[in-house]
Amino acid sequence: MIHQKKAAELLLFPAKPGSQLRQNPWMAAQFGVEFPKSSEKMIHYLLKIDNFLSSKKNFQYKGVLMTMQLKSLIILIVCLLWPLFADCIPLQEKIVGGVEAAQGEFPFLVSIQSIYDGTPSHFCGGTLVNETWILTAAHCAKGHDPSDLQIVGGELDLLNHSSHEQIRLGKRIVINFDYELNEFMYDIAMIEVAEPFEFNDQIVSAELSSQGQDTSRDEILTVIGWGALEEEGPLSNKLQKVEVPAWDDQDCIDAYYTIFYDVDPTMICAGLEEGGKDACQGDSGGPLLNNQMQVVGITSWGFGCARPNLPGVYTEISHYRDWIDKVLATGYGY
Ligand code: ARG
Repeated sequence: MIHQKKAAELLLFPAKPGSQLRQNPWMAAQFGVEFPKSSEKMIHYLLKIDNFLSSKKNFQYKGVLMTMQLKSLIILIVCLLWPLFADCIPLQEKIVGGVEAAQGEFPFLVSIQSIYDGTPSHFCGGTLVNETWILTAAHCAKGHDPSDLQIVGGELDLLNHSSHEQIRLGKRIVINFDYELNEFMYDIAMIEVAEPFEFNDQIVSAELSSQGQDTSRDEILTVIGWGALEEEGPLSNKLQKVEVPAWDDQDCIDAYYTIFYDVDPTMICAGLEEGGKDACQGDSGGPLLNNQMQVVGITSWGFGCARPNLPGVYTEISHYRDWIDKVLATGYGY
């Protein structure tokens, strides 16, 4: 695997020095490595290539033994032709692969917006758990002053202000204490708003799954948000929804292990094996729902978006329900 990864880094080496480097999502998905994003990183990659060539003479890719010569030839061809076909490799279509949601369909969803520099900008989703508390991801809440946040309920189109919307300022942020110690896990936080929301048919709290509640593999889940419609794409103004099957914990751990990422059993993964449907940047903090409209997860992370065999990873509510209830009862998370 290590050698495959290195090989991928070689094959992904882009051809246009000095320019904004292109991603090759297909190759990256095959091998699970990211392209260098800027030409500054180029030198780093050159060094890696050099290391690789001197360390390993032969390696296998998909069962084919690559000799040094064959490898060099492939690298040469890919590097020469890359600018020609880079634009032809389709990125995953539109959340990714979803459809627009209707007004009032997810009345517990909120948009968390930063008002730090005057103009409100959406950056994460959240879920209303009662009139004053929002559930979201810790990585969404961390580093923000609560009063620099506005929480919008009844939102559908980020650009159109409708009468259904209610806007509240943040008052208090409670980040899971364990997240402070290990930011790769425990991605859960709660935000209290300064004034309670007034619940109606467009704005109500969600039902959360209970502590220890199991979600079985292949259960169809729905993820929603205003996140990017494709990897590296801009946010969606219109709320999107997409259905993704739940993964077995161990399958997800194994899938991410191939690219040296750790998935923990306190996370739940969902996505298609072939990719194409997923949450993406900007969907974080929002809910992952089961078919009874219970929140079973919080959108947390993924490698790229909608890539084959790399499902979206969510904080699993069933491991944190007691923590959530404690915050609701006491206002503190410890
Ligand atoms: N961390 C991302 C965010 O801040 C969400 C990523 C979800 N990615 C995924 N492929 N499911 O919005």
